[in-house]
Amino acid sequence: MHRVSAQEFMPEGRSSVRTLKEAAKHCRGCDLYANATQTVFGKGPAEAALMLVGEQPGDAEDQTGQPFIGPAGKLLDRALKELDLQREHLYITNVVKHFKWEPRGKLRLHKNPSAREVAACRPWLEAEIAAVQPTVVVCLGATAARALLGAQFRVTRQRGELHPGPNGCTVTATVHPSSIVRIRDQKEREQAVNRFVTDLRAARTCAGL
Ligand code: URA
Ligand code: SF4
Repeated sequence: MHRVSAQEFMPEGRSSVRTLKEAAKHCRGCDLYANATQTVFGKGPAEAALMLVGEQPGDAEDQTGQPFIGPAGKLLDRALKELDLQREHLYITNVVKHFKWEPRGKLRLHKNPSAREVAACRPWLEAEIAAVQPTVVVCLGATAARALLGAQFRVTRQRGELHPGPNGCTVTATVHPSSIVRIRDQKEREQAVNRFVTDLRAARTCAGL
């Protein structure tokens, strides 16, 4: 059976990030566009050596159109600061480009994207990797790791492993920063931040930064 995906909204041939971003504004490759404010496309230099891939935009990202600017983004910024890495030098994106949520009173609660939605949106991520040609791609959390490293991949056991990826890049994975934000115990949270920083440091080294 033919199913719609982002592919039908993709420009012909290899495109720049700018062209892709423009086209993605009009994507209807799955139903998620209908309840979201806007497409949140990846952001960063056209030739970044290091690419970070999250799951999908949250509430703050949906409202502003920028990836990783809410609580998870703040934690990411803290980790990048510890590494002396400037966010502006990285390409930061998500597997799924629209915010999926359900109402809970006045709140919009994040809902995990389905496998079908991940598959539908995947062509944008593939096109971003083809356009940017990063040396290293870091999957942040299980959704990104599943999309780029396969359904069998387990972040808890396999974080930090280096795998060959598309376009000759190296793909690795670590936890999602929002999983760290959710840790209540301060000491445990600090340990989790340190491990996250360690994973990102290894990825940076691998990318030659
Ligand atoms: N979580 C993500 O996975 N991506 C974002 O952009 C924000 C939160
Ligand atoms: Fe298109 Fe992805 Fe948005 Fe679905 S989530 S409409 S595939 S951009």
